Amino acid sequence: MKISNRKRILVTGGAGFLGSHLCERLLNDGCDVLCVDNFYSGTKDNIVPFLGNPRFELIRHDVTFPLYVEVDEIYNLACPASPVHYQFDPVQTTKTSVHGAINMLGLAKRVKARIFQASTSEVYGDPQVHPQSEDYWGHVNPIGIRSCYDEGKRCAEALFFDYYRQHGVEIKVARIFNTYGPRMHPNDGRVVSTFVVQALRGEDISIFGDGSQTRSFCYVDDLIEGIVRLMNTGDGYTGPLNLGNPDEFTIRELAEAVIELTGSRSRLKFHPLPADDPRQRQPDIGQARERLAWEPKVRLREGLASTIAYFRGIGS
Ligand SMILES: NC(=O)c1ccc[n+]([C@@H]2O[C@H](COP(=O)([O-])OP(=O)(O)OC[C@H]3O[C@@H](n4cnc5c(N)ncnc54)[C@H](O)[C@@H]3O)[C@@H](O)[C@H]2O)c1
Repeated sequence: MKISNRKRILVTGGAGFLGSHLCERLLNDGCDVLCVDNFYSGTKDNIVPFLGNPRFELIRHDVTFPLYVEVDEIYNLACPASPVHYQFDPVQTTKTSVHGAINMLGLAKRVKARIFQASTSEVYGDPQVHPQSEDYWGHVNPIGIRSCYDEGKRCAEALFFDYYRQHGVEIKVARIFNTYGPRMHPNDGRVVSTFVVQALRGEDISIFGDGSQTRSFCYVDDLIEGIVRLMNTGDGYTGPLNLGNPDEFTIRELAEAVIELTGSRSRLKFHPLPADDPRQRQPDIGQARERLAWEPKVRLREGLASTIAYFRGIGS
């Protein structure tokens, strides 16, 4: 029986980049936070600041196995998100997305908790429409080296909507676009962390292709605000909802901004494009604007400055 009015919130993947920011935000909002993580791509360092907080609890657990806890809300973020991590053990990546979704949805059904799914812009694959809105079904290679992640996340979305239709579970699905900020893993191969670390070490900045492919980058604080607003929308609203920053930059522009802001002497070095690398990715955030009155506020240079300060601080 519940004896307090504080919300009890489970965050899977809570020791990861986004998960740790989400835990911090929910603690600041006065919630009890239960962080579940198997430290596959996350680290305890990300949650050390909260370990002394009596409202914060940590369980080392792999979401591919069932979990029995009493909570009011579940944020399901567990899943390696960078290609380096998710391609290291692709079978485990699919299991984490699919079995993890089944286990967390089963829990949500049992305890009648509302559940959020961290889906991804990768469900759009290498998109043939631009920008991508939520009604676009995507252009995904089902058998490529990114498929464990892309198809795992697509299957998880299907499961969320089936639990909603079949069992009435209250779901909230966000499709998250490229997000960056402090606590990214320094060796995860994601473009912002890689460029910042290379610039701080004075190494060449590796650009795949000619650097004209574009990406949109959302600062982590903006994204977390969007996630929490989505979770707090009314009962009938499920998403999927795009969350990201629609400002588009070429990879080359990003590299040049990082070099300038770090004051580095690094030079650009060009490499062949990896398989299935999308040319262009930009969210249509019309729904998020309308439903959540949300849009990103942090400009790229401002967000890069905080990210660079973080990586300097951890001695990258
Ligand atoms: N960061 C982004 O730009 C981005 C974009 C789209 C979607 N997402 C999604 O957001 C979520 C969080 O991404 P992130 O960038 O914080 O990645 P991350 O790798 O930093 O965090 C993922 C966390 O999940 C944990 N984890 C992995 N497998 C697990 C398992 N089987 N059981 C328990 N914990 C497990 C990892 O240890 C890690 O702490 C992921 O689901 C990812 O797909 C992120």
